[in-house]
Amino acid sequence: MTNEPSTSELHAHNFGVSPESRARLLRQTPAILWFTGLSAAGKSAIADTVEAHLHTAGRLTYILDGDSVRLGLCKDLGFANADRQENVRRVAEVAKLMADAGIVVLVCLISPFDRDRKLARSIAGSHNFAEIHVHAGLTVAEARDPKGLYRLARRGAIRHFTGIDSPYEEPTDPDVFIDTCSKSVDEGADLVLHWLHSR
Ligand code: ADX
Repeated sequence: MTNEPSTSELHAHNFGVSPESRARLLRQTPAILWFTGLSAAGKSAIADTVEAHLHTAGRLTYILDGDSVRLGLCKDLGFANADRQENVRRVAEVAKLMADAGIVVLVCLISPFDRDRKLARSIAGSHNFAEIHVHAGLTVAEARDPKGLYRLARRGAIRHFTGIDSPYEEPTDPDVFIDTCSKSVDEGADLVLHWLHSR
C-alpha cells in the first residue's frame, strides 16, 4: 500500500460519549464471543442459538460470519495464510468498534491460526472476550459437508481448504470448548451463555 500514514500523524479525538456510557444506555455489558473451528463444525448454528436467546432477553447483538463478511468487507481476500490473517484482523477491529458501541458481538470465523486469534483478543482490549472452540473432528466435519466444499477440496477443485491442504491449529486453552459430536446445538449454546453470565 502506498502513502500509508505513520501512526504518529494520527490523533484520535476524545469524543464526549464514552463506550461505558453507551453500554449504560443499553443496560448491557458488551462482549466479543469468538467462535473458531473447522468449516461445518457448527460455529454458525451455535452462534445463531446464542444470539436468539440474548435477543429474546432484550440484548443488542450482532453476528459477524465469515461467509458474510467475505461478500463485502473482506471480498478482496482469499484463503492464503496472509489473507486469513488480514480477514481475522479486520473482523476483530470491526467487532471492537461494535463492542465500543455497546453491542454483544458474535464472530464466526474458522480463524485457524493461534497467533491471529491472539491478535483478535488483543484488539478487543478491555472488552470481555471469549475464545470458543467449536470442535468436530475432520472426519465428522467432512461427512457433514453441508456446502459440498470438502468434496471439492478433495478433488483439488478448491485449494488451501482448512483441514485438507491448509492447517487448523487447535486452541490450547479456549474459554469455552464445545464438542459438537457429543453435544447438541442447544447444549453448546448453553455453555456459551453460562460463560457470558459468569462475566
Ligand atoms: S478464515 O480462515 O479466514 O477465518 P472464514 O471463516 O472467513 O475463514 O471463511 C470460511 C468459509 O469460506 C467457509 O465456511 C467456506 O464456506 C468458505 N471457503 C471457501 N474456500 C475456503 C477454503 N479454501 N478454506 C476454508 N473455507 C473456505
